[in-house]
Amino acid sequence: MSSRPGLWITLEGGDGSGKTTQAEMLESWLADAGHTVLRTREPGGSEVGQLIRDIVLHHTGEIAPRAEALLYAADRANHVATVVQPALNRGEIVLQDRYLDSSVAYQGAGRVLDGSQVRDLSLWATEGALPDLTLLLDLDPAAARVRLDAADKPFDRLEAEKLDFHTRVREAFLALAKAEPERFLVVDALASVENIAEQIRARVSSLL
Ligand code: TYD
Repeated sequence: MSSRPGLWITLEGGDGSGKTTQAEMLESWLADAGHTVLRTREPGGSEVGQLIRDIVLHHTGEIAPRAEALLYAADRANHVATVVQPALNRGEIVLQDRYLDSSVAYQGAGRVLDGSQVRDLSLWATEGALPDLTLLLDLDPAAARVRLDAADKPFDRLEAEKLDFHTRVREAFLALAKAEPERFLVVDALASVENIAEQIRARVSSLL
């Protein structure tokens, strides 16, 4: 654990892996225990970040891969400097939906950018700030898709490409967790909500 005050926890995982549910449960558990919790997210955890979020998530035209990576890094730089670090300095618990691991996994999965370059860019942006704990809700995108898709129809080409992309995202997250086992807790997102929450509480308890 780092020597700074406060505790910084990030949540990572594919779309629909249950991050929000778990963040809500962890937040109320921590608040009930008397901790001050700041819930935040990337992209869009600061005022400037909201504008950047709008570009990266809602702009309909093309954004060049390097520009996209820089936009996420700019959002991150402002978020860490103006929201996350001040809260940690006040001794609060920061519970954050997505951080630089998402950039490595998603921007790296486009096959244009190298994951380690994307990571270095984010580390430059945040002066090397890393969370105390990263919760990875691991979910097979095909299983997620099957669960969501009641109609059992074959994938079209675009959907298959999407599945391939999300499979690369998942693999990248798992590789990141393997490289830094002391920072990550990987949980099977197919387990029950209560079981996942219990695993998370056990790990967080050891850091409090
Ligand atoms: P998010 O708001 O977490 O949406 P969801 O609840 O659907 O997961 O994230 C929005 C999208 O932004 C998500 O598809 C992943 C993507 N993203 C990146 O590609 N790179 C990044 O660095 C971050 C933080 C998010």
